[in-house]
Amino acid sequence: MASPSDNAPVVTIRRLAPSDSISELTQLLHRAYAKQVAMGLRPLAGRQDDATTKRRVFNGECHVAVRHDPGPDGRVKQVLVGSILFHEVEEAQGPPYFSKGGVASFSQFAVDPAAQGQGIGLRLLEVIEQRAREAGATELACTMAEPDTDLLNFYFRRGYRLIGHWQWPYTNYRSAILSKTLN
Ligand SMILES: CC(C)(COP(=O)(O)OP(=O)(O)OC[C@H]1O[C@@H](n2cnc3c(N)ncnc32)[C@H](O)[C@@H]1OP(=O)(O)O)[C@@H](O)C(=O)NCCC(=O)NCCS
Repeated sequence: MASPSDNAPVVTIRRLAPSDSISELTQLLHRAYAKQVAMGLRPLAGRQDDATTKRRVFNGECHVAVRHDPGPDGRVKQVLVGSILFHEVEEAQGPPYFSKGGVASFSQFAVDPAAQGQGIGLRLLEVIEQRAREAGATELACTMAEPDTDLLNFYFRRGYRLIGHWQWPYTNYRSAILSKTLN
């Protein structure tokens, strides 16, 4: 007997490929960060242009979640539904904590609102945690918009703790520096 999960779309995680559309990624980021924008916050990923997205993904290791949609011609179309950037080297000065030995970091973390709550974010985080371990890190850190308390609690439930605060020059809010010890 068929169960609802038989019809669930297949979502896989892989590295961003040259054939992926930077514009599609930018639009995904804008959709995901729209909630923070509606709160009056100005996250870079919520308003950056394609050139900025391109520069950022080349300054780190970008992983994407892709949904495999069967097309009418039998060919599968891949649609970007999530993204995370491992070890972005920012042009702006970052928190000194990110430069400490054994600390790896991630940024530009997003899942399409239509695909949230299905564990895709957790899967992206697990991929990055594994990359951090492979790189010899014992801590995985990020910064996030401190006023977004739902997001703060999302990280706390996943083992992250508050390290301190940081002010990025391109945002209008204080960021929390969070870190998780990798087992
Ligand atoms: C943060 C973000 C990436 C999380 O993505 P996500 O795919 O929704 O994350 P998950 O599905 O793994 O977890 C979300 C919730 O859904 C729940 N969930 C996970 N799998 C589920 C499933 N199969 N069915 C129902 N719920 C599920 C999780 O338990 C989790 O709930 P909890 O936080 O109460 O524990 C996403 O909310 C987002 O893009 N936010 C906007 C951008 C942003 O703020 N990014 C972070 C910047 S630092």
